[in-house]
Amino acid sequence: MATITVTGFEGRQITVSTGLFIDNSFVPAFDNKTIDIENPATGAHLVTVSAAQPEDVDRVVQSSKKAYATWKTESSNTRRTLLNRLADLIERDASDLASLEAVDAGILYRDSIGLHVPQAVETLRYFAGWADKVDGVSMSIPQGMITIWKIAPALAAGNTLIIKTPEMCPLYAQKLSHLIAEAGFPPGVINIICGVGAVAGQALAEHMEVKKLSFTGSSAVGRAILATSARTNLKKITLELGGKGPSVVFDDADWDNALLWTTLGITVNNGQICAAGSRIYVQDTIYQKFVEEFSKRSRDAIHGDPLLSQTTKGPVMNAGQLDKMLSYVQKGQQGGAKLLHGGERIGNKGHFFANTAFSDVSQDAAIMQEEIFGPFASIAPFKTEEEVIAKANGTLYGLSAAVFTNDLNKAFRITEGIESGQVTVNTWGTVNANTPFGGVKESGFGRDNGKDALDEWTTVKSVKWNILPSKL
Ligand SMILES: *[C@@H]1O[C@H](CO)[C@@H](O)[C@H](O)[C@H]1NC(C)=O
Ligand SMILES: *[C@@H]1O[C@H](CO)[C@@H](O)[C@H](O)[C@H]1NC(C)=O
Repeated sequence: MATITVTGFEGRQITVSTGLFIDNSFVPAFDNKTIDIENPATGAHLVTVSAAQPEDVDRVVQSSKKAYATWKTESSNTRRTLLNRLADLIERDASDLASLEAVDAGILYRDSIGLHVPQAVETLRYFAGWADKVDGVSMSIPQGMITIWKIAPALAAGNTLIIKTPEMCPLYAQKLSHLIAEAGFPPGVINIICGVGAVAGQALAEHMEVKKLSFTGSSAVGRAILATSARTNLKKITLELGGKGPSVVFDDADWDNALLWTTLGITVNNGQICAAGSRIYVQDTIYQKFVEEFSKRSRDAIHGDPLLSQTTKGPVMNAGQLDKMLSYVQKGQQGGAKLLHGGERIGNKGHFFANTAFSDVSQDAAIMQEEIFGPFASIAPFKTEEEVIAKANGTLYGLSAAVFTNDLNKAFRITEGIESGQVTVNTWGTVNANTPFGGVKESGFGRDNGKDALDEWTTVKSVKWNILPSKL
């Protein structure tokens, strides 16, 4: 199977296979179908990789099914060891993985090496620790003459997995495939395919033998997946969809801390995070001053090659994403909000979009209601707690929220009043292996990370025994 070599951090050459990863080896897609991947920082063609077709999806499902038969009986010790070994390999090759994320997704190398890759390692080790703790529930049921039934045997989890990578940035997962094989997972336990959502993703959603599908992405696609499940085999679905996260700043908040996190909340990863703090509500008593200072600090960005350590701002994902930003700038202006800074493309090479903020945005404006998925902040004042809770709750989404105040009681009231999968106080962002992450309302359902995530990947079986008396 063909390989490709791309240039990563400090010129290192990284070679990965272009094929689909099935049964621990790389194979071409049906009909040799491929997909072209570009470098979003230059707009130039980067590599060509295999694109899974429905025929490949069927093949990969059969592989997973076959692997499941033995994997589910594998000892928890083996599962834990393999997960830990993969974590070690990711740590060893962190620089390659971070480089690959930079070249096809435009994510800053320094963010990836400092944050994303360590998070991947932490998550693997966290769940490795759970491998021998997924037990059946033991319960006592009094019956008849105080007879006690005890149901104990562990129903160990042990699923097999198919990963479909995002169609425009598959390289991280191509590299991961090599590491999975090296770690020694049995063939078929983890299969990884790249492909177009409408083809490979759809085929997975429709497949009668896929038992569970977990999706992160847009609300529109999430709805389609749910409808497909309803129409086919009722596969269990987890959806982590969009967000329009409110950051609420009270006048008693620590000034620098609130500025730091509200700025990071909408500029980290170029705002291309479901949990981005894209709506900023500031108490009227400090509104003008805060908006000025926020604007000053968020303009501060050195755009360029995501692999270079001096770069503080990478490109947005692709040309379509850039056009979307520009169209929302127009909508913001038409809606009467005030453009504080940005609002334009930077340079004419690659897909760079300036950090952008509008102030005095009305609650029903498109830029206050709709997910834009970019470095695009919508700011508005508020007077009272009741008013800001209503505003924070006043979108279809409910994924992530932040509140800034030094009054603990107020913080409790706000965290309780905001309808959101997670709320942070005096900080922003909550991605930790041990912390459940997911949404309410149209941000989806189900949780990634934490103990709750295990519930998504296991089912409960109740077994009741009637133990007959000995006839000795
Ligand atoms: C796919 O590519 C291989 C290797 O180049 C070639 O031998 C094969 O005929 C191709 N198959 C199709 C269906 O194009
Ligand atoms: C969120 O705000 C809305 C509008 O004010 C309100 O109806 C709802 O009860 C609030 N949610 C909670 C959990 O307080």
